[in-house]
Amino acid sequence: MKNEMMSRFLDIYGGDASDVRMFVSPGRVNMIGEHTDYNGGFVFPAALEHASHILVRKTDSGKIRLAATDLPDRVELDINNLGAYKDLRWGNYQAGVAYVLQNHGYEICSCDILYHDTVPLGAGLSSSAAIEVVMALTLATFSNEAKGITAPVDMIEMAKLSQEAEIIYCGVNCGIMDQFASAMGKKDNAIFLDCKTLEFQYVPLVLNGYKIIVGNTKKKRGLADSKYNERRAECESALKQLQIAYPEADCLRAISVEQFEESKHLITNEVERRRAEHVVYECDRVLKSIDALTAGDLPAFGRLMTASHISLRDLYEVTGLNLDVMVEESLKIEGCIGSRMTGAGFGGCTVSIVADDAVETFIQEVSKNYKERTGFDGEFYISSACDGGHEVK
Ligand code: GLA
Repeated sequence: MKNEMMSRFLDIYGGDASDVRMFVSPGRVNMIGEHTDYNGGFVFPAALEHASHILVRKTDSGKIRLAATDLPDRVELDINNLGAYKDLRWGNYQAGVAYVLQNHGYEICSCDILYHDTVPLGAGLSSSAAIEVVMALTLATFSNEAKGITAPVDMIEMAKLSQEAEIIYCGVNCGIMDQFASAMGKKDNAIFLDCKTLEFQYVPLVLNGYKIIVGNTKKKRGLADSKYNERRAECESALKQLQIAYPEADCLRAISVEQFEESKHLITNEVERRRAEHVVYECDRVLKSIDALTAGDLPAFGRLMTASHISLRDLYEVTGLNLDVMVEESLKIEGCIGSRMTGAGFGGCTVSIVADDAVETFIQEVSKNYKERTGFDGEFYISSACDGGHEVK
C-alpha cells in the first residue's frame, strides 16, 4: 500500500520520495461502555487495523496542502489563518486540529499531505478520530523537531487536542473515547479507560477460541450528530436533578446503581430518566466486563455486551432498525456469545464475539438474513486489536 500511496503522492506534489514520511492512526471498535465517555464514565475500546494514513513532506509554502487517495478535493490551508476552514466539505477536521494545536503553542509548519483512509466513513468506527489524531501526531512531530524537543509526542495530549478540535471546530460535542483509542491503542489489547480521570489500563483481548467480528450495517449515521448533542443535553439535565440528592456528584458516572435507584424519582422527565438509567448501568457493565475478562469468563462478557445493546435500544434509543436486526440475527447463530452496536449508533457497526468454528456460518447467515430483512448488504470484518498512532519508519 505504501508504494501505491507514494506514487500518488509524487504525482500530486512532485519531487522524490526521499523526504516523504508516513504516519498512521487507527479507527476503533468499542467493546462496551457506550455513551458513557461524556458522562465521565468507563469505556473499553480497541484500536483497529482500519486506519488513517498520511504521507507528508515539509515545505516552505506557508500552506498545508491536503489531498486524499479517494477524493477529488484539494485543499490549501493558510497556516496564518487556520480559523477560516470550518465549512470545508473535506479538510475541516484537519484544519481544526492544526488550528487547535497552534492555539496551544505548537509551531505549525507548512507541508504537503496525502491521506489514505481505510476506516469506513460514517460507520461508527471513528474515521474522524483517526483523521484527527494522525494529523495531530504529524504536526506535533514537526513542531517538536522545529523546537529541538527530542521527547516523543505526548499521545494523550494529541487525543485531547483532537477532541477539542472536533468540539470547537466541527461542532460535535463528543467525548474523549475515540481519540484516546486512536492515539493510545495497543496490539492485542483493549483499553479500560476512566473518562473522568483519563486513568487507563490495557486489558488483553486475545480471546481463546473466539473472534471479534465487526458488522457494518452500511446504514450511514445520518442524524447522529444532532441527536448526539441532544442525548448529551438530556444527560446533563438528568444529572442536575440527581444533584438535589447527591450535590457532590459532578457527572452521571459518580452515581452508583444503588444511588440511582434511590433517587431516580427526582428526574421528572421520563425520557431523561431513561437516558440516565442507561448511563449508570452501562458504567457498571463495563466494570463487570473487566472482571469477567480477567476471570476468563467470556460468556459473561458476551452477556454484558448484549445487555448493553438492549439498553441502548430501549433506554438510550440510539440503535434503529438496521443495528437491531443485525444484532438479533447475530445472536441467533450458535457460537455467537454476545453482540451489540458500537459507537454513537443510529447506523454504523455492530461488534460480536463468535466462536472460531462458527465464524464462517456467522458471516454467511447474518449477511443473508440481514439483507432479507433490511435490503442492505452488510459487511463483516474479523478484527484484532492494533497499535495506536505512530510514525511508520
Ligand atoms: C461517538 C463519540 C464518542 C462516544 C461514542 C458513544 O463515537 O465520538 O465520544 O461518545 O459516540 O459511546
